[in-house]
Amino acid sequence: MANNIEVVYTPALLPMHEVKGKTVVVIDILRATSSVCVAFQTGVGKVLPVATPEECMVFKEFDFLCAAERNTLKLDGFDLGNSPFEYQNPLIAGRNIALTTTNGTKAIKMAKELHASNILIGSFLNLSALCDKLSTINQSVILLCAGWKDRFNLEDTLFAGAVVNELSAIFETDCDAALAARQLFLSMQDNLEHWVRQSSHAKRFQLLHLQTDDVAFCLQRNTVNLVPMLHGEYIIV
Ligand code: MLT
Repeated sequence: MANNIEVVYTPALLPMHEVKGKTVVVIDILRATSSVCVAFQTGVGKVLPVATPEECMVFKEFDFLCAAERNTLKLDGFDLGNSPFEYQNPLIAGRNIALTTTNGTKAIKMAKELHASNILIGSFLNLSALCDKLSTINQSVILLCAGWKDRFNLEDTLFAGAVVNELSAIFETDCDAALAARQLFLSMQDNLEHWVRQSSHAKRFQLLHLQTDDVAFCLQRNTVNLVPMLHGEYIIV
């Protein structure tokens, strides 16, 4: 029997699914999973997803770089925020990072608490590398969108649709969320940036006068040829 692929629009819906024994891909296009992919491309050692800024700061004494974002903003006193541009800094190569973000790290930890057998990090940046890995892993897959505070968001769902579309020949799906995500991606794929710039998250960036164009950066395809995955408590490659 072919393996199945499901899409979960927000972490709040994940407990409604059978997670145990499946591979969960955590998706947070703007920007946690995009930033984690860039961090490993730059050569960081490992990334520790943590729940709170306070817990994150504890790891400073273990020579970790501490990265914290809440409501899109980098928190004062931390080494890094959540823009992928920050993770291109060659000075982070070889370092370990403790990371907490509004949605992305929460989704990773929830997948672990629900006993996923594998937890992978997905973004448009590593789309092909991710699909190659999923096609060889021989397990059913849940594409978990981090969303925004347990609400649906456009960019994560579009990416999930891109993965469903890419893997349609080898995975079955009886999940309406996957069907809808795929159709959404197919209807928008020729103008992805145009649509994502209308999303609530892109508007949040505009309101906050973000200094970098994280939307354009995070919609690039296949600039990262690796798939970070959770191993114990740490994300590694
Ligand atoms: C998140 O992890 O919640 C998002 O990436 C937030 C952000 O970085 O703007």
